[in-house]
Amino acid sequence: MADPKPAGPSPAPPVPRPLARVVLGVTGGIAAYKAAELARLLVKDGVRVDVVMTRNATRFVTPMTFQALTGRPVATDLWEAGAANAMDHIAISRGADAIVVAPASADFLARLAQGRADDLLATLCLARECPLAVAPAMNRQMWSNPATQRNVAQLAADGVMLLGPGSGDQACGEVGDGRMVEAQEIFDALVALTVPKSLAGRRVLVTAGPTFEAIDPVRGITNLSSGKMGFALARAAAEAGATVTMVAGPTSLPTPAGVERVDVVSAAQMADAVFARVAKHDVFVAVAAVADYRPSTAHERKLKKKAEAMTIALEPTVDILARVATGPRPPFCVGFAAESHDVEKFGEEKRKRKKLALLVANRAQDALGADHNAVTLLDASGATRLPRMDKLALARRLIVEIAARLPPRARGRRGDSR
Ligand code: CTP
Repeated sequence: MADPKPAGPSPAPPVPRPLARVVLGVTGGIAAYKAAELARLLVKDGVRVDVVMTRNATRFVTPMTFQALTGRPVATDLWEAGAANAMDHIAISRGADAIVVAPASADFLARLAQGRADDLLATLCLARECPLAVAPAMNRQMWSNPATQRNVAQLAADGVMLLGPGSGDQACGEVGDGRMVEAQEIFDALVALTVPKSLAGRRVLVTAGPTFEAIDPVRGITNLSSGKMGFALARAAAEAGATVTMVAGPTSLPTPAGVERVDVVSAAQMADAVFARVAKHDVFVAVAAVADYRPSTAHERKLKKKAEAMTIALEPTVDILARVATGPRPPFCVGFAAESHDVEKFGEEKRKRKKLALLVANRAQDALGADHNAVTLLDASGATRLPRMDKLALARRLIVEIAARLPPRARGRRGDSR
């Protein structure tokens, strides 16, 4: 194996920071308070946030709230005293990666659909050079009114990204469509909007989480995998434009946006779910901590306690990744290896044994259940150590690395002819 290259160049370019500057437009509605949470999430992620409020928005939340959260002045008026001229205001959105209007009132959507420039926020949207996303929030009848639906259809046709609305309890006491989607969802959509689409047109299959091998109806053998890395990878692949299927072992993590999720419990179920789908995929990323052994017998009835020691016979499970990678017309296969010691040596042996294009090796003690991880990438050209980072940042980096290594697409999708 070649020497590791701790500081050496990696085969893929570094992940560009997807979201650096955002203009957050806030219009009049009770959901304006949720925009404060969105501003907080963006700032926490290192994004520069310039907030622009309509006059009505300031009746619900004060500009001071956003100024305190973002550390930047909040703009409210096209004709603000002290500004050299109105053109300065348009400069707020120059260089921004996105404008997001959350909440977007029915009135604002109507003005936007007509291309009006009758206040600062509408003017910025009209003069923008970046993507625009809106998160509608209004009473359910206002939302379902044909006029609003017409405006929304027009905005979608104009390339504006619509986030929601969601359904549920409304501030007016009614229940129905029109609730603003949660701040976290808007944040995730904004990041996805600006991530380079390096996997556009590709199909990616991911396994994630632990497996659970039953001993009896209430007991079993499992492991400490949280599923965080696999879920982050599925999310990062979807953000990069891939069609993503994730086969997940038992975990309560929420499904990432745009990812098709197949829930399984045991290694055998995970194997069946993967083998049934893998032929149609270009990439297989096996992140799951699959049990290597399962009890030879899963008792139908709960075992009773006895005085003497108990022995449970175990039998090996199928190695899903190795079976896929050594099968006919394998996809680009990526494995994960958690080793307690000699990470790179054992990792490279595992990569060769399982015939993997890429293996992501890490220390088991660092990875399981943690929010951060430091890994070494092993491929035919050697080892590349990546710095410690949070699992989502690592997932995005791994997607860039995978995309850079993928062979050019053959004509027709994998599996189309089968
Ligand atoms: N894997 C799999 N199916 C299994 C076991 C493992 O798909 N039954 C995949 C994992 O998802 C991971 C990789 O294989 O991507 C490494 O698994 P690991 O259990 O560390 O490898 P082993 O060959 O079982 O080696 P070890 O002796 O270290 O457990």
